[in-house]
Amino acid sequence: PKVHASILSIKDFAESKGDSSPIPSTYHSISGLHEEDDVAEELAASIPVIDFSHLTSHHPQIHAKAVHLIGKACAEWGVFMLTNHGIPENLVEKLMKKSGEFHDLAVEEKKEFGDKGPFEPIRHGTSFCPEVEKVHYWRDYLKATTFPQFNFPHKPPGFREVAYEYSEKIRGLARKLLEGISESLGLASNSIIESTEFDSSHQLFVVNLYPPCPQPHLALGMPSHSDTGLLTLLTQNGIGGLQVKHHAKWVNVNPLPNCLTVLLADHLQVVSNGRYERVLHRAILNNVGTRISVVLANGPALDKEVGPLAELLENEKPLFKTIKYKDYFQFQQKSRLDDKSGLDQIRL
Ligand code: SIN
Ligand code: FE2
Repeated sequence: PKVHASILSIKDFAESKGDSSPIPSTYHSISGLHEEDDVAEELAASIPVIDFSHLTSHHPQIHAKAVHLIGKACAEWGVFMLTNHGIPENLVEKLMKKSGEFHDLAVEEKKEFGDKGPFEPIRHGTSFCPEVEKVHYWRDYLKATTFPQFNFPHKPPGFREVAYEYSEKIRGLARKLLEGISESLGLASNSIIESTEFDSSHQLFVVNLYPPCPQPHLALGMPSHSDTGLLTLLTQNGIGGLQVKHHAKWVNVNPLPNCLTVLLADHLQVVSNGRYERVLHRAILNNVGTRISVVLANGPALDKEVGPLAELLENEKPLFKTIKYKDYFQFQQKSRLDDKSGLDQIRL
């Protein structure tokens, strides 16, 4: 498996090889060629859209309708697009620009952030976990823990400030969404927040870069997986590549202007005792342009023991064990993404 452990950045590797040379076989996807035919093109437009301003509305009926819609989106899809979220367009533009500049830094300049394990506050690397993988993935990443403590590189200039502002805003959105989701389960709005100690929640800020790939159907940017945490909020540059699994078909999550994508992550399935399920997703490649996605995973607090909400267990058995979120997170970050998910380890 370690054949290409010497590649520190797939971006640099791709640039040095040019756009017509075959990709290394260690990047050939296990599932083989992934063609367009397992993609349900017609479903892309059916991904639910939630208007955030309705969720926060003081009009009881507007709010109630938004809660109903969010519950439906969680139950039927596990993914939705969020509009009117209040994050300024120019903040997202700056974030994308600085994200590209970070990945453009020379490898030498990023070496100090080499990935030394899940609890390093700042990590730069390629693929997902090259030490344990059979197949590598065509992406470079920066991962930083941005809450409860804000950690972020000081370069390129201005990146840290933009990331701080963005991470705070995303956390605010995640909190409101979790309140709405609690209500949609028939519970008090603070039930998920309280039971996961969201006030000191773990937030992981991931900046992905997928260079153009000469053989885009042979490799993947990220294989099918679900995220650790409660809710992942994601934004992508104009180039699509994110797909979600819906009823055994892949559905493109097309980049829409001023929209965030919200993905249900593993621990939402845990706290809701399976009423809502995490969504499987992957990132596919193209040979046209560089794709950037900025992905914020908002989890429970690392030290919190988290399991199905007590309120839901009055008349039913727990489907998952209660474990410390830190242990779950560590397991997920050190495993092969194409392996059993963390959720399978804690299923009762
Ligand atoms: C991820 O699953 O974290 C990345 C998805 C994406 O790049 O859109
Ligand atoms: Fe993901």
